[in-house]
Amino acid sequence: ALKIVTIGGGSSYTPELIEGYIKRQDQLPIKEIWLVDIEAGKEKLEIVGAMAKRMVAAAGLDWEVHLTLDRREALKDADYVSTQFRVGLLDARIKDERVPLSHGVLGQETNGAGGMFKAFRTIPVILGIIKDMEEMCPNAWLVNFTNPAGMVTEAAIKHGGWKKTAGLCNVPIGHSKQAAEKLGVPEEELFIKYAGINHFHWHRVWDKEGNERTDELIDLIYGPQEEADSHLKNIHSAPFHYEQIKDLGMLPCGYHRYYYIEDEMLAHSVEEFEKGETRAQVVKATEARLFELYKDPKLDYKPKELEQRGGTHYSDAACELIASIQNDKRTDMVVSTENNGTIVDLPYDCVVEVSGPVTSHGPEPYNWGSFPPAARGLIQGMKGMEETTIRAAITGDYGAALQAFTINPLVPGGTMAKTLLDELLLAHEAHLPQF
Ligand code: NAD
Ligand code: G6P
Ligand code: MN
Repeated sequence: ALKIVTIGGGSSYTPELIEGYIKRQDQLPIKEIWLVDIEAGKEKLEIVGAMAKRMVAAAGLDWEVHLTLDRREALKDADYVSTQFRVGLLDARIKDERVPLSHGVLGQETNGAGGMFKAFRTIPVILGIIKDMEEMCPNAWLVNFTNPAGMVTEAAIKHGGWKKTAGLCNVPIGHSKQAAEKLGVPEEELFIKYAGINHFHWHRVWDKEGNERTDELIDLIYGPQEEADSHLKNIHSAPFHYEQIKDLGMLPCGYHRYYYIEDEMLAHSVEEFEKGETRAQVVKATEARLFELYKDPKLDYKPKELEQRGGTHYSDAACELIASIQNDKRTDMVVSTENNGTIVDLPYDCVVEVSGPVTSHGPEPYNWGSFPPAARGLIQGMKGMEETTIRAAITGDYGAALQAFTINPLVPGGTMAKTLLDELLLAHEAHLPQF
C-alpha cells in the first residue's frame, strides 16, 4: 500500500492532484495521502485539506488524508513525495514580478529575474527536504513541480544526490493536445519528441504513417492567418514572427515568447504592472475566490474556476508519472531528468526536459541529438545561466548571483543586473538565509 506525500499541500492545486489519484485508483494502491505545509500556510492547508477529504469520501475510497505541519512525520516511510510549495507564497511572487518591472525589465516568475530569485528561495528548501528524505524515506521518488522546475530538479539530482527525482510541467501536455487538434489526428497516434530545458524546449511531431508533420503544424499554429493563442492562462497570447519560427523548423513552447518576442511581452507586462495587474496579483485574487469555494462543505469535486490557473493538466503529469513508475507502464512523458547524452549540446550531468517512456526505474529518454545552430547557442547560454543560478542559490555567493543576473538574456546590461539583484536581495531578505 502506498504512502504519498505532497509538500506545499495548502496549494489551490491540491484538488487537481486528488482528482488525478481518484481517476487512477485502479493503478495506485493508496493507503495514505499526507499534505504538508508550514505555519504560514496552515489556514490554506486546513481548507483545501478538508476539501481533499470530501473528494476522497465522495469517490467511495478509504484512503486516509492527513494534514500536518510536521514534514518529517509525513515523510516517514513515504513511497512518493511530490512538491508544490512556494517559498514566501504569492506575495513573494508579486515582488519577483514587480521589482524588475519597476525598472522596465521582465520579472517573469520562472524565466528572467523573478525566476532566478524563486530559485534562490527554493533550492535551499529542496535540499533540506532531501536531507529529511535520506533519513525518513530513503527509497522514495521525488516528483518535483516547484518552479523553476528545471533548476530545482537539477539541484535535487546533481547537488542533493537524489537520483530518484523527476521534474514535471504541464506545458508539453498542452502542446501535444494542440498538435492533435490542429492536425485532426488522435493524440495517441502522434509521436511527439520534446527537448530543451523547462519552459525553454522545442518539439517535433510525426504521424503513424511515419511522416513528419512539424512544418505543417508551424503553418497551422503560427501561420500569418492564424490567431495567436498561448494555450496558457498565464502567458499573453502575442504572435510569434512566422518567418522566424518557420526558419527554426521546430515548434517552440509558449514560454519562448519571452525570448523571441521579448519586446512585445515586456510592453504587455509593463501595462499590467501599471494597472496593478501583474500575473501574481491576478492569481492572488483567483486564489482568494478558489478558497472561498473550497470552504463550501458541499463541494466535493474540483471546481471549474481552477482552470483560471496556469497549471491545468497538472495532475495528468504528476499522477500519471507516479502510476507509470509504480506499474512500469512506460507511458511516454516529458520529464526533467538527467541529460546523460540525450542532448549532445549540453553537459551529461545537467537536467534537461525531454520525452521518453517512464519505467519502474524512472524516465528513459529518447535520444534527441543536437540542435540547429539557431537554437544551440541559446540553449547552451540558458543552461549556463541555470547552472550559475543554482551555484549562487547553494553558496549564497554574491559574485555568482551577479554573474547569473548578468548572463540571463532577459536582464539587459550588467549595471541593471546589479541594481535588480540588490533590490531583490533586500525585498526577499526573510527567505534568503544563504545570502
Ligand atoms: P502557493 O503560493 O499556494 O504555495 C503552495 C503552498 O506552499 C502554500 O500553502 C505555502 O504555505 C506552502 N509552502 C511554502 N513554503 C513551504 C515550505 N518550506 N514547506 C512546505 N510548504 C511550503 O503556490 P501555488 O501557486 O499553488 O503553486 C505551487 C508551486 O507549484 C509553485 O512553486 C509553482 O511555481 C508550482 N507550479 C508548477 C507547475 C509546473 O508546471 N511545474 C504548475 C503549477 C504550479
Ligand atoms: C504554467 C507553467 C507553470 C506555472 C503556471 C503559472 O502552467 O507550466 O510552471 O507555474 O503556468 O500559472 P499561474 O496561474 O500561477 O500564473
Ligand atoms: Mn511549468
